[in-house]
Amino acid sequence: MNVASTGNTVGKVTSAGGPGFGNKRSEGLSGKILLKVSDLKVSYGGIEAVRGISFDVPEGEIVTLIGANGAGKSSTLRSIVGLEKPASGSITFNGMELTSMGTEQIVKNGITLVPEGRRVFVNLSVYENLRMGAYLRNDDLAKDLDWVYSLFPRLKERHWQAAGTLSGGEQQMLAIARALMSRPQMIMMDEPSLGLAPIIVQEVFDIIREINHQGMTILLVEQNANMALKAADKGYVMETGRITLSGTGKDLAENQEVKEAYLGKSRK
Ligand SMILES: Nc1ncnc2c1ncn2[C@@H]1O[C@H](COP(=O)(O)OP(=O)(O)O)[C@@H](O)[C@H]1O
Ligand SMILES: [Mg+2]
Repeated sequence: MNVASTGNTVGKVTSAGGPGFGNKRSEGLSGKILLKVSDLKVSYGGIEAVRGISFDVPEGEIVTLIGANGAGKSSTLRSIVGLEKPASGSITFNGMELTSMGTEQIVKNGITLVPEGRRVFVNLSVYENLRMGAYLRNDDLAKDLDWVYSLFPRLKERHWQAAGTLSGGEQQMLAIARALMSRPQMIMMDEPSLGLAPIIVQEVFDIIREINHQGMTILLVEQNANMALKAADKGYVMETGRITLSGTGKDLAENQEVKEAYLGKSRK
């Protein structure tokens, strides 16, 4: 269904085909689709975790996938970066097919993942964690280190501190900073707000917006639909392996079904 042609900005996605945004917001700041996922399926043994989803990430935008636990969000991100092999479907980035590439090659091509649960190296210092993020590069890291430390001054103050001694929020910031050290063109974040206090969640989202303002394309996965939809240009709702709704962040946030299912607001 072509969303624009219905005059309705939140599109119900009923088939495995691409949801499509018509002409309305389909083109990012540069007018270019950076990541294109088409009919992606991911299975674990006999279990189909992702059942044929399609979505686009335009260059320069924040796109969010929201959905409950078990919807298939992490499986989607992990397959984009080559950590799970898709059962079928296509993933292109800058027009290049990624499904036959390994993770290293995908990272070298400009995609990075901030994994669910942060996964910082707890015994290594902040600085060493940041160096790990740049391990596929052998050029001078000083400029990027300056850049991430300017984004995260608290990390700079903790340069030599073991990552395991940082607070949850600081570890999340470190995980994002580490991912930025690979100098990605697109950063994917898997539930960056999980387990953090509301005020820290706000800080994480401020950083997400700031990185985006600096030109970074962002694919954000969240159960925290409220914050994610506020930040995102476009959103997709995932339910048990399928995309069931799509629209602008704003329109999805105002959609009755989304409100009831994901924003904790019941119909009055
Ligand atoms: N390594 C795995 N082995 C088997 N099943 C898995 C594995 N990872 C995820 N799953 C299953 O796939 C489904 C989707 O999981 P996941 O992608 O982690 O969802 P989400 O990130 O939205 O919570 C769930 O039913 C989950 O139990
Ligand atoms: Mg997950």
